[in-house]
Amino acid sequence: MGLHWKRPEHTESTTRARALWRPKNRVPSPTSRMTVLSTRRLLVSAATPPPPTQRGTPAGGDHFRERIAPILEERSGARVYLKLENPQRTGSFKLRGALNRWLSLDPDQRTRGVVAASSGNHGMAVTCAAGEAGVDAVVFVPRGASPIELAALRSFGARVRVKGNDCLVAEDAIRSALRVVVGQHRTLIEGAAAVAVPGPDSRASRRSTPNGRSRSSCAGEHRPGDSARSPVSRRPRRLWNAHGRAGCANRLQPADWNPMDRPISSRKQDHLRLALEHDVERPPADGSAFAAVELAHRALPELDLDEVDPSLEFLGRRLAFPLLIGSMTGGTPQAGVINRRLATAAQHCGVGMCLGSQRIALEHPEHSATFAVRHVAPDILLVANLGAVQLNYGVDAPQVRHLADDVGADAVVFHLNAAQEALQPEGDTRFGGLFEALGEAVETIGLPCGVKEVGCGFSIADVRRLAELPLAFLESAGRGGTSWNAIEGQRAQGEHDRDLAAGLADWGTPSLTSLLACLRYGATDVIASGGLRSGLDAARALALGATATAMALPLVRAAARSSEAVIDELEAFKKALVTVMFLTGARDLAALRSVPHRVPPQVQPEIWEDGAGA
Ligand SMILES: Cc1cc2nc3c(=O)[nH]c(=O)nc-3n(C[C@H](O)[C@H](O)[C@H](O)COP(=O)(O)O)c2cc1C
Repeated sequence: MGLHWKRPEHTESTTRARALWRPKNRVPSPTSRMTVLSTRRLLVSAATPPPPTQRGTPAGGDHFRERIAPILEERSGARVYLKLENPQRTGSFKLRGALNRWLSLDPDQRTRGVVAASSGNHGMAVTCAAGEAGVDAVVFVPRGASPIELAALRSFGARVRVKGNDCLVAEDAIRSALRVVVGQHRTLIEGAAAVAVPGPDSRASRRSTPNGRSRSSCAGEHRPGDSARSPVSRRPRRLWNAHGRAGCANRLQPADWNPMDRPISSRKQDHLRLALEHDVERPPADGSAFAAVELAHRALPELDLDEVDPSLEFLGRRLAFPLLIGSMTGGTPQAGVINRRLATAAQHCGVGMCLGSQRIALEHPEHSATFAVRHVAPDILLVANLGAVQLNYGVDAPQVRHLADDVGADAVVFHLNAAQEALQPEGDTRFGGLFEALGEAVETIGLPCGVKEVGCGFSIADVRRLAELPLAFLESAGRGGTSWNAIEGQRAQGEHDRDLAAGLADWGTPSLTSLLACLRYGATDVIASGGLRSGLDAARALALGATATAMALPLVRAAARSSEAVIDELEAFKKALVTVMFLTGARDLAALRSVPHRVPPQVQPEIWEDGAGA
């Protein structure tokens, strides 16, 4: 038995896998410049266990290094290194194989998703890799699968189906599914066989391999074409150190695998969970935030229903109807799955999509894949997103541009969320001088930029100020839909903080008032949002003069079920919009804008503000 080195075959997957596994252990490691090789004949992996004094040394490391390695060396006649696999993110080596298989799928197969039958390590690897690689995953499990394993599968974003009494029955069940079946496929096995070899400048690389060649020369066989194929491999090399984290204990918290990431990724996870499971909306007592607008009915519309055309050109893309999926999420595996479902539906229905705040991708680039949706939505209007206040915390225009380019965005929206930041224990509250910073960024980013609120709306004074900037759009996002103050109230630790958030749950400018302020005092296109819940609401906002609309909460809730559920919502939205356009005799959006309408005086911004800001 000997060690056989072979030139790399699956650079893309192994590079991705390396990024996935990277714990935030900032201690430089001798293995930090590893090159990954793949071979079916390689029997023992080659990462040196850390010295016992190093942080996070796995229990039993000494035993393996001192007792097991010598036996293997004696039998193989070769220098043997052991690598502990169970501290990996999914608890086993199987992630490599699964990731390799996913990366070998063509875009069409990826859109259809994948199925697997397993309640163990394979299922976990399939789901985790699917989430990272942009593939929707369904995992069939046998009856009696452990609740812990099921919870772990779901926490990675899998849709779990229980079938039969063992995995073979479950596997039979998936053969009929119209998806890519994952089993003992060649690419899966080859990916799983990939192991790590020290790179040219690492300590271990200077040792010889059994065939007399140094390992650095083996690593040098890396084919340039491989890295050219992988967008990920073009990124700067990252420290890869597989040691230093608890293994299986982390399975139920995949987003928390990296302790250094915890504050931001766990906050995102909290937000998503609260938005999905709690009552976080604050609609006005008399219905939706836009219900107060009445449109004139036409008994003689003088057009056929089929003739109504709600499409428009916006920010360089064609939308089938004027809706963008509101900025929501990213940064955790579950959020990645949701983003891809939203984007799949957006592509199917021809609407736009705004990503959630990408700040986490700036600080932890390994999370950027959770925002990647272009592979499932090549044609949609895609808008990158960042909290404007980050410009006061050292983020600059080139970094924002990088975030947008990284996801293939057509535009950038900066969100203003002063209330939310003020209520968060970890909030970024340095809003002083932000207008100047925003102006500088907007002028230099080189993409169309917009500014939005997140549910507290704009005052007349805000809009007047923002009208001085070369913005491409404002998103009005007033009070009446999702209340971030209510969400932060659920996260608040102490009684006083909870009371403060509860008192501010209804804070802000109502959505209609904010929209009218943007339309009257702004100098740019306006996206109406904040409690906009249907095509009927959209018709009302568009009749007032909005260019487009955005809806967030109902769509993330649908996406938590499936992309089909999002498509259902979007189709219902379009049908309602087209119906109202028909009933108002509006053949297209320009005609809708001139439909007579009535808005109650109390929502007019000048009256609502009692002249204070006018
Ligand atoms: C789960 C969730 C996450 C959100 N995250 C962001 C975000 O990262 N950036 C942002 O600009 N807005 C974010 N928002 C705010 C929405 O984009 C939107 O402005 C607000 O929810 C009002 O719209 P709605 O009533 O249709 O939900 C989020 C909303 C939800 C529900």
